[in-house]
Amino acid sequence: MIEEGLTAAEVIQLQDQYVMKCVEPWNEKVFVKGKGSTLWDIEGQEYLDCFSGVSVINIGHAHPKMVAAVSDQINRLTHLSTLYRTAPMPILAKKLAEIVPMGEGRSKSFFCNSGTEANEHAITLARIATKKFEIFGLQNGFYGRGGFTMSITGLGAWRSGLGPFMSGTLHLPMYHCYRCPLGHHHYSECGYACANYLKIALKTQTSNRTAAVVVEPIQGIGGIVEAPPDYFKVLKPILEENQILLIVDEVQTGFGRTGMMFGIEHYGVEPDVVTLAKGLGGGLPIGAVVAKPEIADTFPGPDFATFGGNPVSCRAALAAIEVTQEEGLVKNSAEVGEFLKAGLVELSKHHPFLDDVEGKGLFIGAEITTDKEKKTPASNIVMTRILDEALKEKMLIGRGGLYYNRIRFQPPLCFTRKEAERTLEVFEKALTIAEGAA
Ligand SMILES: Cc1ncc(COP(=O)(O)O)c(C=O)c1O
Repeated sequence: MIEEGLTAAEVIQLQDQYVMKCVEPWNEKVFVKGKGSTLWDIEGQEYLDCFSGVSVINIGHAHPKMVAAVSDQINRLTHLSTLYRTAPMPILAKKLAEIVPMGEGRSKSFFCNSGTEANEHAITLARIATKKFEIFGLQNGFYGRGGFTMSITGLGAWRSGLGPFMSGTLHLPMYHCYRCPLGHHHYSECGYACANYLKIALKTQTSNRTAAVVVEPIQGIGGIVEAPPDYFKVLKPILEENQILLIVDEVQTGFGRTGMMFGIEHYGVEPDVVTLAKGLGGGLPIGAVVAKPEIADTFPGPDFATFGGNPVSCRAALAAIEVTQEEGLVKNSAEVGEFLKAGLVELSKHHPFLDDVEGKGLFIGAEITTDKEKKTPASNIVMTRILDEALKEKMLIGRGGLYYNRIRFQPPLCFTRKEAERTLEVFEKALTIAEGAA
């Protein structure tokens, strides 16, 4: 154990002195071990993980199949680069072609290291394939920390106070009915004005050279906000009419997180390109762009990511997909997620600070507001209190949203109903304390 003999205070001191300040931990616990949905800190205290390292640990911590696959590969061949052929990468590409909702077997993949890189590559590919250059993201969307991805990210807090951003990058209105930027109340009344807005945006804000729209089916960092039911069915014909590609960012929503293998499957449309990371590698760093072959093949290259297609990461991804399928984790995500969401909706009826609960599967967001009528976002003090009180009860939950006032529940997909019950108990206790103190 590398941390043998170290105290939490010593680890914190090391981080404060040697790690850049922009890395901001949410608390002072130092975690050393995980198994399934359980974590242990350096003092041996046990916690319930309701965040999965941001939707990464979908199959649970330290799954034996993952450990075996990674150990086997690392012992034989750790890295070579894609300049030389190895087997795990094309085997993984075939597996992805079988499961990504793009017409079975009809896709080709490019591998990289992260969600940012996957989205950057997808955008480059779309620009090459269409010979056009404008790219739309969504308000409240998060796409990464690169040039294009930070530019299309629709959350000011994640733009690091920088600018100007890349020209030719634009935003569609967010699809969050609870805070509709177009002043509507519900998609049933406005006929999906947020999706239809693209028609006017193309005519007024672009030079009609739009290559792609990049959309998360459910916005993650945006606080777990669902695209309304027919959002993509309204958007897709507008894209087709204008020969614009639909890039679906499944970085958070992929691999069973939403109770389907991919988030877009809830919406009945076929994407042109899908981007993947986080849960793909079950904990190891890997990103992927999956595209229809006729799009993929327009990019002759060369393109290269030093660690892209790394054999160890690819074996980890294959093991994670196998576990997800063999252990019925997608179904479990749907069932336990439904139970957890129903419990949160029930709590929202009785708690003054808990409003809008959204999400699918084990991907649920809950708005914390100090005035439900005015939808006043809860302050940082209230939000920190909720997270801290949950931590005192040995539970990790997340936070996000436009005003950073949404609680995010995204536990490993092996989460049990009993663990969901515990989550509700702890969250209610933390919420009650925060309400009482405000
Ligand atoms: C939807 C989405 N896309 C892209 C990214 C960027 O991924 P990464 O942090 O692996 O670069 C994230 C990260 O949280 C994300 O949530």
